[in-house]
Amino acid sequence: MIFNLYFFVFISYILHNICVLAEQFPRSEKNGQELLLCRKCGADVADSYYLFSKPSPGARKTEKQNLFGQQNVTVQTLVNPFGIKFEVVTAEKARCDNIGPNQGADSWFPGYSWRICACPHCGQHLGWTFEKTDSIVEKQSSENIKTFHGLILRNILGENFTDSLIMMPKMYKM
Ligand SMILES: *[C@@H]1O[C@H](CO)[C@@H](O)[C@H](O)[C@H]1NC(C)=O
Ligand SMILES: *[C@@H]1O[C@H](CO)[C@@H](O)[C@H](O)[C@H]1NC(C)=O
Ligand SMILES: [Zn+2]
Repeated sequence: MIFNLYFFVFISYILHNICVLAEQFPRSEKNGQELLLCRKCGADVADSYYLFSKPSPGARKTEKQNLFGQQNVTVQTLVNPFGIKFEVVTAEKARCDNIGPNQGADSWFPGYSWRICACPHCGQHLGWTFEKTDSIVEKQSSENIKTFHGLILRNILGENFTDSLIMMPKMYKM
């Protein structure tokens, strides 16, 4: 009887720990993460985990938004030399087909050259890949990363956006 009780307590203890582990791992890994999809074809092109703040001195507007499961994502309004405005988020990693040669002039991020970032699946323009140019050497701190991406908000979609579509009232559907 005593043995059984000890055994029961022991098993409960083990089971409890397994449950705690099982709960903790997915949570700490997945917390606030969402895949970013190409809005045109749905291919996953980035992970919101890699969004980071990289302010451009030329930004017309900068604001913090809660996007793709992340709080306070920096959204910048950048304007190209033709006067076209883009709402852009910056990511340390993204799947891009980088098109064309590195362009040095008119970079929104001084010290970086840029190339077009296209969806590797359908070719849709997703944004730009910025690469540090060698001429401007480590003047600033180590936060100056070598390569990053600017993604155009209206050309991407959070994976969970489709969940919110399913929950839409009938009257908004076709
Ligand atoms: C998005 O959906 C996935 C899969 O259902 C889920 O694990 C994740 O927590 C969701 N992300 C957000 C930010 O709601
Ligand atoms: C986001 O910003 C709000 C307001 O400034 C702040 O209270 C909150 O802690 C921030 N969250 C994160 C995850 O940085
Ligand atoms: Zn695509």
